[in-house]
Amino acid sequence: MAGVAFRNISKVFGKDVKAVDNLNLEIRDKEFMVLVGPSGCGKTTALRMIAGLEESTEGDIMIGEVRVNDVPPKDRDIAMVFQNYALYPHMNVYDNIAFGLRLRELKGFFWQLTHMAEARRIKLDIDSRVKEVARMLQIEKYLHRRPKELSGGQRQRVALARAIVRKPKVFLMDEPLSNLDAKLRVETRAELIRLHRSLGITTIYVTHDQTEAMTMGQRIAIMRDGKLQQCDEPETVYAYPANKFVASFIGSPPMNFVDAKITNVGEQAYVDAGDFKLALPAGHPAAGMSGKSVTLGIRPEEIFDATLPSRVTPNELNTIRAKVDVLEPLGDRYIAYLTIGGHKLVSSIDNETKIKVDQEANFTINLERIHIFDNDTEAAIR
Ligand SMILES: Nc1ncnc2c1ncn2[C@@H]1O[C@H](COP(=O)(O)OP(=O)(O)OP(=O)(O)O)[C@@H](O)[C@H]1O
Ligand SMILES: [Mg+2]
Repeated sequence: MAGVAFRNISKVFGKDVKAVDNLNLEIRDKEFMVLVGPSGCGKTTALRMIAGLEESTEGDIMIGEVRVNDVPPKDRDIAMVFQNYALYPHMNVYDNIAFGLRLRELKGFFWQLTHMAEARRIKLDIDSRVKEVARMLQIEKYLHRRPKELSGGQRQRVALARAIVRKPKVFLMDEPLSNLDAKLRVETRAELIRLHRSLGITTIYVTHDQTEAMTMGQRIAIMRDGKLQQCDEPETVYAYPANKFVASFIGSPPMNFVDAKITNVGEQAYVDAGDFKLALPAGHPAAGMSGKSVTLGIRPEEIFDATLPSRVTPNELNTIRAKVDVLEPLGDRYIAYLTIGGHKLVSSIDNETKIKVDQEANFTINLERIHIFDNDTEAAIR
């Protein structure tokens, strides 16, 4: 068991492709950490450096207390599952899972001949481990089949089984579910979480899918252009995004952004978008920045139909009047596309609503949950 750490890690490809830029991140022992970010932000490169498949240009990679920069991949005690895993096509599922163990633990034919009792004990041990893992991943019925006789999801589980059976110090998973259809992906996600809970092995999981990150990670690390943007528990990242990028990346439908200015009327500070303005909660640090251009962020879930009971009691400080352009039914809710003057807002409205397309209605906004971003740095002001 071991934690993993990136200390001032950078990776430059060629002359000027900075794939990872001064990454500092500590993954705790037994933690399930998700690395998430858009395509090309450096996730796979970061993972490959832990595995030793890529050398870092600068900085230290730690596994436990050991600096592993110069430790060969096979001695790092890591198992990696890729998006495009390859199973051995000529071997059945059992042998696919057992192959790596045999290679590691049974030291060649001559050794086996001269150590028959020990070799037999190792073979029995491998057999019980393969069967245990197959049971965990519900592939024990397919142990005799070849990979081509399996569905994509079953194959994916064989690839996972092959990694898990080794009981490594650290699991690295690079988009391991991306080949699966939506339903199977959700199921396998839950399976992986259960598996992590029972095995307790430090896991670093890469995805570009924010839902997968939010649902799986004990903590999630959001990257952009090789740089770490924020690392925290999913609830914290959602409620307190550190900057505009994280705010836009986490949450679905994504957060609304509106150009605005901080204004003051007497003691009360507002975030003023021209066509509407909202009162800033007392003591908000932006309140003292009168005249400053900012971006106002409002999550669709924090905009309510003013006529329905909600967390927000309507008053003149938190209510806006908007026209409903489109209503998309999701069953339990509607996604409502609203216009206020020159601004467009997306809201997620309870299905009890009586609002109608092309009509105006009052909406309340949870002022405790609005976000203000500095237009120069894009950092959250709070
Ligand atoms: N071997 C390489 N040589 C040159 N540039 C590379 C190499 N591998 C990756 N890059 C570049 O480094 C950056 C990060 O790539 P990386 O594969 O780590 O991204 P990623 O976050 O895993 O993206 P994706 O979600 O698309 O898999 C990209 O700009 C990529 O083009
Ligand atoms: Mg990748």
